[in-house]
Formats: sequence, structure tokens, C-alpha cells
Amino acid sequence: MPVQSPSTVISEVLLTEQQIQRRVRELGAAISADYVDLEPVLVGVLRGVVLFMADLMRAIPIPFSIDFLSITSYGAQAGPGQVRLLKDLETSIEGRHVLFVEDMVDTGLTLHTLLRMLRARDPASLHVCTLFDKPRLRLVKLPLRYVGFELPDRYVVGYGLDYRQRYRNLPFVGVLAAQVLLPNGVGAEGESS
Ligand code: IMP
Repeated sequence: MPVQSPSTVISEVLLTEQQIQRRVRELGAAISADYVDLEPVLVGVLRGVVLFMADLMRAIPIPFSIDFLSITSYGAQAGPGQVRLLKDLETSIEGRHVLFVEDMVDTGLTLHTLLRMLRARDPASLHVCTLFDKPRLRLVKLPLRYVGFELPDRYVVGYGLDYRQRYRNLPFVGVLAAQVLLPNGVGAEGESS
């Protein structure tokens, strides 16, 4: 069976499993304090957020529910941030306190589009928790209430983040070695996060 060895595909570990787990617990504690008695809905975008959502849920002891969206990009012609919904929420968020949970915010265009869509459904409140943030790449102003880590402008994988659908299972976050990248550049396959 082929095994992907981290030492051959990762050139540099940026965040260890311990650092990530400690920060996720801190985020969970902050969210629990802010949302006590509000029974929030945590909304995640498939697929990159799955590991973060699973750990964050276990760090939040107050009552809450979860739901997921799945999206795909329309492609380069449609313009940045234009997304097509593959799977909508199964919960009505009208009057609910919604916490949008993201793995990574980079240009912010996808999140901007999704927040506009959710705001139109009249939630009681709508805030964002992202584990990773690349603020230097931001193209739109976005209010991020909770941020786990700021990252440099480098393509990273692990802890849910992929390169062509691989490496999501790594428990740490690292920079992909140059020899693994395709000659025509980087980018997650399928554009659904
Ligand atoms: P944006 O904020 O609209 O530019 O898109 C953010 C999405 O791009 C994230 O949800 C990820 O799916 C993806 N992404 C951005 N940077 C990285 C990275 O370094 N590794 C893996 N995926 C990334």
C-alpha cells in the first residue's frame, strides 16, 4: 500500500499538532463564553473544515448545532468569489446565532459571497471563526471574530487543507515540497474548500 511520508512531501512544518490542538481549545473556550445561552449553529464549508470542525466541537461544552455547505467555483470566467452551491444548509438559520467556521481565509472573496448569502436569511447574528488567516492576500474587508493563526503567503497543506485532494489527513500544517507541486502552479482541485 502506498504511504505518503510527511518527510518527503513537506519541506517545512509551520504548525505542529500540539500547537494546533492547543489553539483550537482556546478558540472553543472563547466561543463557549461568548455564546453561552445562545445555542449557536456552527456552519462549515466542506471539505477542508472537517478536521477543524470536529476538534472545535469537542472544545465547546455549551449546547450548539452544526450544519454544512458545499460549494464549487464557477471557474475563471465567472469572476473571483463566484460560487455555485452544491449542498445547502439543512437548517433554517432565521433568528439563529450563526458562527461561520472556516479553515482558511485568503483573498476572502469566497467567504464574502457566502456571508452575503447567509445574511439574507436573517440570522440573529453572524460571525466568523477561521483557524488560518492569510491577511496579506485579502482583497475584501471581512470581520473575523476569531482567528486561530495568521499564516504567511505560502501554500500549505495538512489539518484538512489539501493539494489536489491529498494531505488533508496530516495532523500538522506544513509547506509542500517543491518537487510535489505541479509545474503549472498550485491550487486545490475542485475549488470546493
Ligand atoms: P479565498 O479566501 O476566497 O481566496 O479562498 C479561501 C479558500 O482557498 C480556503 O477555504 C481553502 O480552501 C483555499 N486555500 C487558500 N489557501 C490555501 C492553502 O495554503 N492551502 C490549501 N488551501 C488553501
